[in-house]
Amino acid sequence: MTPLLVYDPTDEAIRKNPFPLYEALQEHDPVHWSPAIRSWIITRYDDVRQVALSPTMSSDRLRPFYEAQRDDRREILSGVMRYLNEWLVFKAPPEHTRLRKMMNGVFSMQMVQSLAPQIRRTVDDLYGRLPRGQPFDFMQEVAVLLPAYVILDMMGVPRADFRMIKEWSDNLRLFIGTSRADEDKYRKARSGADQMSAYFRSLIAQRRGRLSDDVISNMLQAQDDRGGLSEDELIAMCMLVLFGGHETTANLLGSAVVAMLEYPEQQQLLRDKPELIDSAVEEFLRYDGPSNSIARVVAVDHELHGKALRAGDRVFAMINAANRDPRRFERPHVLNIERSPNRHLTFGQGLHFCLGAPLARLEAKACLGALVSGFSWMRPGPGEVHWIDALVMRGPSSLPLVLQ
Ligand code: HEM
Repeated sequence: MTPLLVYDPTDEAIRKNPFPLYEALQEHDPVHWSPAIRSWIITRYDDVRQVALSPTMSSDRLRPFYEAQRDDRREILSGVMRYLNEWLVFKAPPEHTRLRKMMNGVFSMQMVQSLAPQIRRTVDDLYGRLPRGQPFDFMQEVAVLLPAYVILDMMGVPRADFRMIKEWSDNLRLFIGTSRADEDKYRKARSGADQMSAYFRSLIAQRRGRLSDDVISNMLQAQDDRGGLSEDELIAMCMLVLFGGHETTANLLGSAVVAMLEYPEQQQLLRDKPELIDSAVEEFLRYDGPSNSIARVVAVDHELHGKALRAGDRVFAMINAANRDPRRFERPHVLNIERSPNRHLTFGQGLHFCLGAPLARLEAKACLGALVSGFSWMRPGPGEVHWIDALVMRGPSSLPLVLQ
């Protein structure tokens, strides 16, 4: 008999370890209706990939949600939607194609490679400040700061403004990535969007008069045959790069450390063979990656594994479940830093494939490589690892660690 399976991302046990439930869903209910979030939950690798690639699914998932809200709430959210509507992730061709082309030029491989020396300096600086042999929170002292500093430096934004920007970004996340029923979340998201957009509007105005070689200056100069990016597009892009670029990478760094603590022999292997860092980072991305799911809206009625998906239904394609699908990966629940092939879906698939993937990989290699080469051992600090309560993202919120 099929067990009764319920996916509720607010459940504490699921937040800590969602993988046993993902496996049960793959086996018994691969297209699962979650009453808790009134959405379909898709867990098998091939289906998750299809959700990302198929034209039967739309990435314009915010507009229907917005339109279904009460008038007073729509009023609050209009100031958030003004910018989120311009985000690449929510756009479809031909608008997506135009914006993405311009952004590919700004985020070229060459630009990313040129950041390597600065990233290494930042890593050395962060590790240099850590207390040896004393417990500290890896998330607060390293994982959150490194990607934030990299993005801020890359945009030419003062590092001193980080705490303020992070608070706005956390408020915005309440609307986009959370599973928490926070009564005030729409008002907080609005205030986050208002403050962040005002900040970037003024920064962009200053930068127009004094172009440099940072990402904002490059976005200001990006052109296609229809001209450059509009002011709202520029602001939205700054918000997206900041939002998409810091939390995800921070979560990757944290989850990778948790995985190394869980598998000391894999950690030792990486110490003995530092040349494995590239494949180790791919395995950390697969084993417990930061993009728990991607969201879509059904565009065309269709059936999947006997379930009727109706236009307008919300779908969460669970990347972290797909990345451990035994139909795709051998011994999927085991961390193997030499795994090959390793075609995880952590950066998405198709049109919306992550713009920042080369940057995230570069940061992870620098940070985790220096962690195993610069310290002779690591062990868990006192207290538990806590996990963020998000449906779309996954990662530790605090991670006590001791390094020597
Ligand atoms: C480990 C770190 C990261 C992970 C796991 C990640 C994951 C993803 C995923 C899954 C998508 C596709 C979303 C969808 O299809 O709905 C995406 C898109 C995107 N990511 Fe990342 N990301 C990471 C780091 C970054 C960084 C560092 C940046 C910026 C510097 C960035 C910028 C973007 C942008 C702009 C998009 C939208 C692309 C489009 O729609 O064309 N990401 N990311």
